Amino acid sequence: MSTQRPGWAPEDIDLDRPNAARVYDYLLGGSANFAKDREFADHLTKIAPHAASIARVNRAFLRRAVTYCLNNGIRQFLDIGSGIPTAGNVHEIAHRVDPSVRVVYVDIEPVAVTHTERMLAGNDNAAVVGGDLLEPETLLTSSAARRLLNFDEPIAVLTVAVLHFIDDDKGPHAAVARYVDAMAPGSYLVLSHIAAEDTDEQAQARTLYRKDAIPIVARTREQLTAFFTGTELVEPGIVWTPLWHPEQFDNLEEPERSKGYAGVGRKP
Ligand SMILES: C[S@@+](CC[C@H](N)C(=O)[O-])C[C@H]1O[C@@H](n2cnc3c(N)ncnc32)[C@H](O)[C@@H]1O
Repeated sequence: MSTQRPGWAPEDIDLDRPNAARVYDYLLGGSANFAKDREFADHLTKIAPHAASIARVNRAFLRRAVTYCLNNGIRQFLDIGSGIPTAGNVHEIAHRVDPSVRVVYVDIEPVAVTHTERMLAGNDNAAVVGGDLLEPETLLTSSAARRLLNFDEPIAVLTVAVLHFIDDDKGPHAAVARYVDAMAPGSYLVLSHIAAEDTDEQAQARTLYRKDAIPIVARTREQLTAFFTGTELVEPGIVWTPLWHPEQFDNLEEPERSKGYAGVGRKP
């Protein structure tokens, strides 16, 4: 083991390999990461100099989309691939509006789960499940989901910056379709995703991720449309991330520098 394990690090994680959740945490200025994650992120930043700002732009989309859902009456959220807690977690955004909003976080990475558990200690309206987006039945019937979520009422299911870690052959479309199927009419599917681009930068970044066994799959706008089957895309559809319901004073120049698409679908 090349890295000393801090007390909060779960026993079952491999500190000798970078992990997508912890690399993202480091890019966002967090401290729940290890030497291999930082090394990876620094290498990524050499290839893609805007990597940290891409992460921040994605977080800003998450906040706008959650606010949009709240403004449209949503009072329960299932945030899949929620990541390591950072500024502006879903329950924090929601509880400023209504402390009774219920939130279930899901992540596959044990460090994300441990940190989220700590953050939520004493909070009766939010919980975290360690689990895989690709196992909808397990997540939908988890004790946290059964306690906090009511699928007879509208809900927002968030898949923000997570589906690009799942290859087509693993079945992400069927999994997302299952969540959409479980939603009541008036529910929302929120998605952001790395945009497929034919550039050297993207090819090099993909090689870097795959070298460390982190699958990464960029998708086109057309490919992302398939995830929204069973919903109607909210205006303006699937767009460069900064262009989805921008706020006053947001910088909308060169939105393609976000390298990502975002969209929200409403189940009719
Ligand atoms: C880039 S982070 C995004 C975090 C947060 N959603 C955001 O947008 O700020 C991607 C997260 O997805 C998680 N993840 C990757 N594959 C997953 C899967 N199959 N099921 C659940 N979580 C997954 C990673 O562990 C990581 O925490």
